[in-house]
Amino acid sequence: MNIEQLKLFKQSNEKITCLTAYDASFAKLFDDCGVDVILVGDSLGNVIQGAENTLGVSMDDMAYHTQAVAKGAKNALLIADMPYQSYGSAEQTLINAKRLMDVGAQMVKFEGGREHEASFKILQANNIPVCGHLGLQPQSVIEMGGYKVQGKDEASAKRIVDDALALESWGVQTLVLECIPAELAKQISQNLSIPTIGIGAGIDCDGQVLVSYDMLGINTGHMPKFVKNFLSGNDSIESAVEDYIHSIKNQTFPGDEHSY
Ligand code: KIV
Repeated sequence: MNIEQLKLFKQSNEKITCLTAYDASFAKLFDDCGVDVILVGDSLGNVIQGAENTLGVSMDDMAYHTQAVAKGAKNALLIADMPYQSYGSAEQTLINAKRLMDVGAQMVKFEGGREHEASFKILQANNIPVCGHLGLQPQSVIEMGGYKVQGKDEASAKRIVDDALALESWGVQTLVLECIPAELAKQISQNLSIPTIGIGAGIDCDGQVLVSYDMLGINTGHMPKFVKNFLSGNDSIESAVEDYIHSIKNQTFPGDEHSY
């Protein structure tokens, strides 16, 4: 899988499937089931480390888990999250992104919009593929006042739209849209040529991602309302993942729920 293929999926309205993974065994299982994209999410702070948020995840953590996932994932496109405070300056962004690419990532993702212009541009100049992340940004959960739907009023919706257009112009290759109204996600997806991958952002994104532990019903913390437990009604993890893939490809998932 590569970004060109994901763009072809967008053009032909074939939905992109994405799951998070944090180790080689789950990565291999998801890969064997045919998931298009595997994200080594900093959600590992919640589901692996048991923390309340992702702010304590370090570059060492991300490099360790990315290396493990890269050993299991052979076909899926592998995206690795840049953790909190790892992309403050352009120089720091480049060093940390290279570190994740060196251990097997094929693209790095970080949260935020135009405030990170220098970071997006330095990665573009160094040919490091980037996935953006707009809408709810878990690394800014405190500033955002909790896990809440973003972009509900005109001004904040416009900010997300303008950020998305800027990111595309700075070479960002794909864009995660988290927890925004479905109509806004649809508008952004239609106005960009790069694929969008939604989570709690409605059916009209070009693809969907869930935290794998959530969709297997094994998250011990809060379960967002937009999550569906795919293990319930299936008798193995493989069947649950295949069900997830089919539900996205035939557009029966997600439903209408966007809130946490
Ligand atoms: O860290 C993560 O798992 C993510 C997804 C929820 C998009 O960023």
